[in-house]
Amino acid sequence: MANVTVIGAQWGDEGKGKIVDWLASRADAVVRFQGGHNAGHTLVVGNEVYKLSLLPSGIVRGTLSIIGNGVVLDPWALKAEIEKLTGQGVTIHSENFAIADNCPLILPLHRDLDGLREGAAGAGKIGTTGRGIGPAYEDKVGRRAIRVCDLAHLDALDSQLDRLCAHHDALRAGFGQPPVDRAALIEELREIAPFVLQFAQPVWKRLKKVRKAGARILFEGAQGVLLDVDHGTYPFVTSSNTVSGTAASGSGLGPNSTGFVLGIVKAYTTRVGSGPFPTELEDETGQKLGERGHEFGTVTGRKRRCGWFDAVLVRQSCAISGVTGIALTKLDVLDGFDKVRICTGYRLRGSDGVVKVLDYFPSHSADQASVEPIYEEMDGWKDTTAGARSWADLPAQAIKYIQRVQELIETPVALVSTSPEREDTILVRDPFVD
Ligand code: GDP
Ligand code: IMO
Ligand code: MG
Repeated sequence: MANVTVIGAQWGDEGKGKIVDWLASRADAVVRFQGGHNAGHTLVVGNEVYKLSLLPSGIVRGTLSIIGNGVVLDPWALKAEIEKLTGQGVTIHSENFAIADNCPLILPLHRDLDGLREGAAGAGKIGTTGRGIGPAYEDKVGRRAIRVCDLAHLDALDSQLDRLCAHHDALRAGFGQPPVDRAALIEELREIAPFVLQFAQPVWKRLKKVRKAGARILFEGAQGVLLDVDHGTYPFVTSSNTVSGTAASGSGLGPNSTGFVLGIVKAYTTRVGSGPFPTELEDETGQKLGERGHEFGTVTGRKRRCGWFDAVLVRQSCAISGVTGIALTKLDVLDGFDKVRICTGYRLRGSDGVVKVLDYFPSHSADQASVEPIYEEMDGWKDTTAGARSWADLPAQAIKYIQRVQELIETPVALVSTSPEREDTILVRDPFVD
């Protein structure tokens, strides 16, 4: 049976949650494999709106939902999210939800450090979500992390805490902050441990069993390729690999398990936080996109920066992540524009003063900040695409736009999304069947 890996192909917020929820009706398990509660995935089902940060979007349908080892887990955020969803009528128990016991934890000291660094960075700040994601990943790689399995051995945590606190106390002192309150930390961990441990298990084993039974697995990425710590707009990125390859390492399955790679692509571009954004529109058109698309962050409520579709960036993301097909979302937001523009290349002035045309996004941050987009303009469409559920419902000019997008990004369209609502989705090619 085919599996599907969903990843964002821009700077996040492409509509991954909606598409994962839609696909989850055909999946037997949904797995988060990187990121943490910096993600904000919105699902709209009838009159109910679900906002998920840490839980896999499959949980809303009751599909087996798994948090893989590649995620950094804030146990208190997890508890709050489970309580919120339970209040919305979603059933979550140890039969339909599991957490990798080798998942590193996000602790209050990580959130502190995230805030202290951002506060001190002034104009050079990354614009993080303030959730402690970066510091938690640093501790994982620095071999200082406290992990989910450690919650079952809190009495034997002394030497690990020595290492962790020695590192953080030095950093905190640099910011004029008191050392970590170790006793309070242990107490907080002791309190939350039973809640987390009821879901903890070696999920690689569970997934192996699921796979052996021929079940379909849906891997749910967070963020987007342009926020990938290697391939994104470094240093204005998140601290994990967001590309499709992480689905394997972040869940404990091999790379031959990740199946069809579905890149989620917004019909225009948005970004939240700092960093280069070649097609950003700081004018009325950008404002109109933001208003029509309700472009405010799910997690932080921050206004998202908006701009035209950048085919160069998406082509690059699709190549880097081996995208098999895309889901083009929020097409309806472009309804009613007289003209729509697509970026097809960049102009970059070199240090010798010579202007070069690029068909890719350069790696250096100064070049990324100074490329100028080259646009192609197309007629817009007057009729609405909002709520369209079949190709036949789309205006001819909107179809032309989709076709031009897939041509430029050299990747076929598998799905089109035309509203936040679950069922307002056009299936062109079934990722589970291909
Ligand atoms: P994610 O982080 O990739 O899951 O995306 P977010 O949930 O942060 O942001 C996408 C927003 O667009 C959410 O509010 C969705 O409900 C909404 N959305 C998703 N698909 C569509 C669509 O096709 N049209 C419109 N108008 N909104 C959509
Ligand atoms: P979803 O899954 C959009 C951005 C932050 C910041 C940078 C680093 O909803 O698409 P971090 O807190 O991760 O250290 O912040 O990454 N960012 C996102 N932007 N969507 C997201 O997730 C994001 N998660 C992080 O705004 O620029
Ligand atoms: Mg989001």
